[in-house]
Amino acid sequence: MTASGGRARLAQGGPKGGQDMVRLAAFGAALAILAGCTPAEPEPTGRALFAQFCAGCHGSGGRGDGPAAAGLARRPADLTGIAARNGGSFPMARVMSTIDGYTRRGDGSVMPELGAVLGEGPVVLVDTGDGIATPAPARLVALAEYLRGIQVP
Ligand code: HEC
Repeated sequence: MTASGGRARLAQGGPKGGQDMVRLAAFGAALAILAGCTPAEPEPTGRALFAQFCAGCHGSGGRGDGPAAAGLARRPADLTGIAARNGGSFPMARVMSTIDGYTRRGDGSVMPELGAVLGEGPVVLVDTGDGIATPAPARLVALAEYLRGIQVP
């Protein structure tokens, strides 16, 4: 039996096994980053980032009713209904790129591109559902996971 045969079996370990491997990889990356530098403050949570950068427009509960919403040309989206509007599943990759802003360039979006400010801080590996661990800013991932947690059916 060759080493590559063993790897192939591991890679086919089913969704659960794959997730564990991604978690392990993310943990390893986090450790490597921690070893390189000692952050002065702990990373902000998704909830704190939301309150800081999003609630002004989207509202503290994410329903699109923040204090700044009335003055906008477009109504901020109800962020508790993203999964419901997407056939019941939360589109992690699409949400992350929407927040980042890159995919909204030129479409008249009034929401600021937040990629730069959320790009501060460490990078983690995230599997957005395609089984591939992709590096992404930890703050962007924390925010997207916070949004996943506030979905209503
Ligand atoms: C200046 C107001 C404003 C701020 C600040 C803002 N948004 Fe938005 N957001 C909007 C508007 C308006 C839309 C509706 C579509 C558009 O114009 O882009 C939107 C759309 C979205 C969508 C798409 C929803 C869907 O159904 O696809 C997501 C996700 C989102 N915002 C997340 C966030 C997050 C997370 C933050 C904070 C990091 C944030 N927004 C900050 C105004 C804002």
